[in-house]
Amino acid sequence: MNVQNAQVYNTQTLPKQGNYKLVVYFICIVGALGGLLFGLDQGFIANSLNTIKATYNLNTQSAEQYSAILATGGVIGALLSGIFARFLGRKKSLVFAGLIFTIASLGSAMLPSFHVLNVFRFFLGFGVGVASFIAPLYLSETAPASIRGSMGTLFQLMITIGIFLISVTNVYIAKVFVSPHVALPIMFMVIAVFAVLMLIGSLILPESPRWLMLKGRKEQAIRVLKRTFNTQQEVDSEIQDIEKILAAGQGHSIKALIKAHFIKILVIGVVLQMFQQLVGINVMIYYAPTIFGYAGMKGLIAMMAVPTVNMLFTFPAIYLVEKWGRKKLLYVGAVIMCLTMLAAGLAFQYIGNTDPSLVSSIPKSVLLIAVIAYIFGFAFSWGPVAWLVCSEIFPLKGREVGMTITTMVNWTFAGLLMRYSLTFMETYGRSSLFYMFAIFCVLAIIFVAKFVPETKGITLEDLELKLRRK
Ligand code: BGC
Repeated sequence: MNVQNAQVYNTQTLPKQGNYKLVVYFICIVGALGGLLFGLDQGFIANSLNTIKATYNLNTQSAEQYSAILATGGVIGALLSGIFARFLGRKKSLVFAGLIFTIASLGSAMLPSFHVLNVFRFFLGFGVGVASFIAPLYLSETAPASIRGSMGTLFQLMITIGIFLISVTNVYIAKVFVSPHVALPIMFMVIAVFAVLMLIGSLILPESPRWLMLKGRKEQAIRVLKRTFNTQQEVDSEIQDIEKILAAGQGHSIKALIKAHFIKILVIGVVLQMFQQLVGINVMIYYAPTIFGYAGMKGLIAMMAVPTVNMLFTFPAIYLVEKWGRKKLLYVGAVIMCLTMLAAGLAFQYIGNTDPSLVSSIPKSVLLIAVIAYIFGFAFSWGPVAWLVCSEIFPLKGREVGMTITTMVNWTFAGLLMRYSLTFMETYGRSSLFYMFAIFCVLAIIFVAKFVPETKGITLEDLELKLRRK
């Protein structure tokens, strides 16, 4: 079958949205539980830092070190996950991540020495690194093409639900259990419960049909596809598509990796993930209470506004990513983030070094509205779309390597921002950080316009052929 025919055949045989078996949705939800654990660990710090400091008698520096070690684990987890994905398979790698989450969260709940607690946080990060690589990969390979965007977006939705959930439970637990020695283990137990759920859920998942084909296990791949697709024709079409790509003369995968076309895609993925962090999201996720504190805002709004808006506005992305396509979302999101970061910068320029208790209500409101609108802008666009596009654009044979590198880049920049942004604000003035984020948003728009391909509604195999022809 030539390429043209393949495309016609695919368009005709793709079931419409909503026509899939329930099992497809179950698979995607369990697969996306990796995102939930990502969010629980990422969001853990904001509202638990005081409890951790009190339990272990920490100064701010050690507490910051404890927070940041998650990103180190994330980078190393992402680095190794390409190997896990290839040799263990996608499903077993998810099981493995679930196991790490379970052990590390239960271990932390036992309140070991601070040194050991750091080791457990490193492993939580390691699990997050593995999960943030495997879950989008698994979802994009297992979900049928016309809902792949929505199902891939589920991963981000789970991250934001995780961040929200742990923010609420940590606020609540710290209120109810006044003693930090009682509160902290309970906070960790919340993560442990979901880790066990992920572990059990992943044990029931089928393996990715694309990985099975890659390993020459066609019979098993057909069995999985029969469970997920409605008709034999769809199964045959999917198998043919995958076979076509595997036989497309890429030879040994190392050779495939040094081809100009792969390098070009890799650069697109790397820069996309870099910008996802350079627009400043994790500064808000980790430090919103601190930033609001500079302007004299405390209490529930300062603690909960960011995680709540972040979660709520990821929902529209599930629909919009298929309706508008990936690129339009990236543009709109970056424009909103750029304008709101300018507004936040102006608010801080006006506030200067005023005593927080004396800051007037106008700059306060501008800052609050700007940060909330910024989170809205990120949540329905760059949050889900950066991960989604990276899970879609790589050729099958270079997918693990490509996603390993892009995921590592994401975690590296996340770590750098977590570590240095407060210091940056102190050194160069608070508004400068926000202006810098605004500039990165502009650069991100130019980059998307020039380099990022639209991946909406096209099978991974057709996309691969299209990118190769470019
Ligand atoms: C980012 C994370 C961020 C989260 C916030 C994800 O897409 O990769 O770094 O914390 O979104 O929702």
